[in-house]
Amino acid sequence: MAWTNEAIVSQSAAVMSTYGRWPVAMVRGQGSWLWDADGRAYLDFAAGIAVTILGHSHPEVAEAIAEQARTLIHCSNLFHIPQQVELARWLADHSALDQVFFCNSGAEANEAAIKLARRWAYASGREERREIVALEHSFHGRTLGALTATGQKKYQEGFGPLVPGIRHVAAGDIRLLEEALDGGVCAVMLELVQGEAGVIPLSPAYVQQVRRVCDERGILLIVDEVQTGMGRTGTLFAYEQYGIEPDMMTLAKGLANGVPVGAMLAKRKVAEAFGPGTHGSTFGGNPLAMRAALATVSVLERERLWERAAERGAYLRRRLERALGDHPRVREIRGLGLMLGVVLDGPAAPVAEACLHEGLLVTVAGGNTIRLLPPLIVSEEEVDTGVSRLAAALGRAYPA
Ligand SMILES: Cc1ncc(COP(=O)(O)O)c(C=O)c1O
Repeated sequence: MAWTNEAIVSQSAAVMSTYGRWPVAMVRGQGSWLWDADGRAYLDFAAGIAVTILGHSHPEVAEAIAEQARTLIHCSNLFHIPQQVELARWLADHSALDQVFFCNSGAEANEAAIKLARRWAYASGREERREIVALEHSFHGRTLGALTATGQKKYQEGFGPLVPGIRHVAAGDIRLLEEALDGGVCAVMLELVQGEAGVIPLSPAYVQQVRRVCDERGILLIVDEVQTGMGRTGTLFAYEQYGIEPDMMTLAKGLANGVPVGAMLAKRKVAEAFGPGTHGSTFGGNPLAMRAALATVSVLERERLWERAAERGAYLRRRLERALGDHPRVREIRGLGLMLGVVLDGPAAPVAEACLHEGLLVTVAGGNTIRLLPPLIVSEEEVDTGVSRLAAALGRAYPA
C-alpha cells in the first residue's frame, strides 16, 4: 500500500469506525510537530489527546524502549519486575499515595479504582456500601464501569444495562452531594478539571468541601488524573493545587509519553483490600511499558516540566486572550496550566477543521470548546505560531 493520505484513507474500511477521523494519516513526529503521509507538517496542540508530554520521538524514551525491547519485553506479573518496583516507588515518593496497580489505559485504571473502593468497603465489614457517586458531565472512559461513571448520556446510549450502583450529582453544589452520600456509598469519584466536558475546572472551595464530607462519613475520594496528571496542569498532579489529598488516584495518558500505561494509586489502608488473585492484568506493568514510563518521569523530573507547563500555560493564555479575546464568538478562555479551553458561542468542530487546514492540531471538547493540550516542552515561538494559526482558523470558520 502506498503511504499517501488518500491511499490510506481509501483503504481503511477494515478499521472499525469508532472515531470520526480527519482524512489524514500521521506517519512521523518530532517534538511539537507531526507529519502526515503526504509530507505536510502540523503543530501538535492535541499531543495525542494529552499523551505526548515530552513531545514526539523523545530520544531518551526511544532509546529506553529500544534497549528494553532487546532485553525483556514481557514476563507477566507472576514475577517481580524491577522496572515496575522502581516506577511504583517513584509515584509513591512523588504523590500522597502509597501503592500502585499498573494497567494499560485510563479506563482500566478507573475500573480498578471502582473495584478497589467496593472491595475496601467489603474488607472493612461494610458490605452494604457498594455505591459510587460521580459528577455530571464527567468522563472516565469507555469500558462498562468507567462508562457508567461517565456523567454524559451521549457516551452511554445503546450500551445498557450499565453497571448498577453508580450515581451522579451536579458539580459545584455540596448540598446535592451531601444528600447523595447515604449509608450505601463507598466512594466519590471526580476529575478536578473536566476535560472532555469542555475543560471545566472545579472550584477549590467545592473540592475541599467534598474532601471534608468524605472524611466525616468515612467515604473514599477517588481523583481521576488520567488527563490532568503528569504535570499537565502546572503541578505534577492537579490535586496539589486544590489543597486536598485523594484516597485514590488514577493516571494514564502522559505517564509513558505514548506507550500505553495506566496506573491506579491508593493509600495503604485502602490498597490493603486487594490481595493475591483479587485483581490483575496480563500486560499491566510489563518491563517494556515500565521502562518507557521510567524514562518519561526521569525527563519530567529533571527538567521540572510541570513548572514549564505553568509558565508556558500562562503565556499561552495571555496570547490567546490578546489574539482571540475580542472575537464575538469567543465566550471564555479557561483551564489550568497547559490544559486550556477556548469556549465558543457555537460549535467548535468547524474551527478544529479550519485549524487542520492551517497546520494546527487541536481537539474539540464539550461541543463548543477548542481544547489545547500542547506537549509540556512547547516553546514560546511554537505557542506564538499556534495562536496565530488558531486565530486564522477562527476567522475562517466564523468571520467576525
Ligand atoms: C479524565 C479521563 N479519564 C479517563 C479517560 C479514559 O482513558 P483511556 O482512553 O486511556 O481509557 C480519559 C480519556 O480521555 C480521561 O480524559
